[in-house]
Amino acid sequence: MSVRGSNGKLLAADDKSDLIARMRALAGIPRAPARDDAVPQRVAPAFDTLDEYKLLTQHREIGHSQGVADPFFRLQRGRAGSIAIIEGREVMNFASYDYLGLNHAPSVAVAAKSAIDMYGTSVSASRLVAGERPILRDLERGLAEVYAAEDAAVFVSGHATNVGVISTLMRPEDLVLYDELCHASILVGAKLSGAARRAFRHNDLATLERLLEDAAGAHERILIVVEGLYSMDGDVPDLARLVEIKRRYGAWLMVDEAHALGVLGATGRGLAEDAGVDPRAVDIWMGTLSKTLAGSGGYIAGSASLVELLKLGVSGFVYSVGLSPPVAGATLEALAVMMREPERTARLKRNGQLFLEAARAAGLDTGLGCGHAICPIMVGDSLRAAKLSERLLAAGLNVLPIIYPAVPMQSARLRFFITSEHTEAQIRSAVEMTRRELDRLVADGVGLSGVAQRLASGWRP
Ligand SMILES: Cc1ncc(COP(=O)(O)O)c(C=O)c1O
Repeated sequence: MSVRGSNGKLLAADDKSDLIARMRALAGIPRAPARDDAVPQRVAPAFDTLDEYKLLTQHREIGHSQGVADPFFRLQRGRAGSIAIIEGREVMNFASYDYLGLNHAPSVAVAAKSAIDMYGTSVSASRLVAGERPILRDLERGLAEVYAAEDAAVFVSGHATNVGVISTLMRPEDLVLYDELCHASILVGAKLSGAARRAFRHNDLATLERLLEDAAGAHERILIVVEGLYSMDGDVPDLARLVEIKRRYGAWLMVDEAHALGVLGATGRGLAEDAGVDPRAVDIWMGTLSKTLAGSGGYIAGSASLVELLKLGVSGFVYSVGLSPPVAGATLEALAVMMREPERTARLKRNGQLFLEAARAAGLDTGLGCGHAICPIMVGDSLRAAKLSERLLAAGLNVLPIIYPAVPMQSARLRFFITSEHTEAQIRSAVEMTRRELDRLVADGVGLSGVAQRLASGWRP
């Protein structure tokens, strides 16, 4: 369209766009976006062209070419427990964290429902601004009591607890020493802190001491991180010695009790109770609400000043919503049941021992497992482990494979989670089935070495 000026003459193109821009500004209309062809274009890489994506699909294709379906994200119905309903079929379940069967305890479900009636399904915002609900403080006091600690703080995720707490307490000039088998969330927290990081060989406290010796005087803050019960291997650290070491070198000791609460100790109070060590000797107790306590979220128990510092300093606490009321209600009641009914923990201990003894008697390699709620059955080859899990599911047993990179190459395994609710018959039958199917796979030569041979002879997945 041609536009004329006040003198009746046609306006030049530049004057015309200047006039239009001024008129738009007067009318409060935002600037028109620049024409596409005026802006240099760069195409963002499509996600399916990323190397990491290609690697994922390659792994899956190798599995498919060997007739192994993806063992992850299997559709389940019903509650996690000693029985699972997978693809409409009831199977024995050795892949649930419901160590004490509390996901099935009627009083836990009732507590979750009454928390909804009282507080709704959300506390709506960070506790700093949304205010406190007594149920959350009751849960924190209950968790503090487990460790005879001054106080505790609960967070909305166990993973985020480790990430947030470690990255808040530790600074670039500090040092984090952790067991090489520690959970990924501990490594992420340490990395995010910017502190120097050193892993020591699993449960090798002599190496830990050497690292502390080497670092003497170089760091104001040193944090040692271990797990109460190792989640991939099912063994425990020497807490008494760790306490002695951390005192000698002026370090903080943090113990992740994700798998230890409800499992270790005569009444399920975890590693300190199991080892006969005063829990107050540990600076930072960490745990999750997602395993024994049948909910989701994480916690820290320790001194009042530590808890205050974290509640005002951890970004994931200050800027994240508080735990949802039904989860707080459920976990508070689950904790109460755990304390009221120590026979659940006693039953779990018997089952853990029974599984270990039966597996050893069947000649299965139980790795570092020592009769607690987690027992690996070492397979070595990742493909064989995945295939074993698949065949066991077909035979009526759900147990998942753990493969690289979750564990080192050639350390693939099936990871059995044993609960207080498994029967002796289920345990014995799970061991027998595993022995039988593993023997068949070995006899058939199923494994990655077979794939390597085929690749060498020109075959491509
Ligand atoms: C040792 C350990 N720490 C932390 C976590 C994270 O906990 P959550 O799954 O509750 O976020 C896990 C999860 O399995 C774990 O095994």
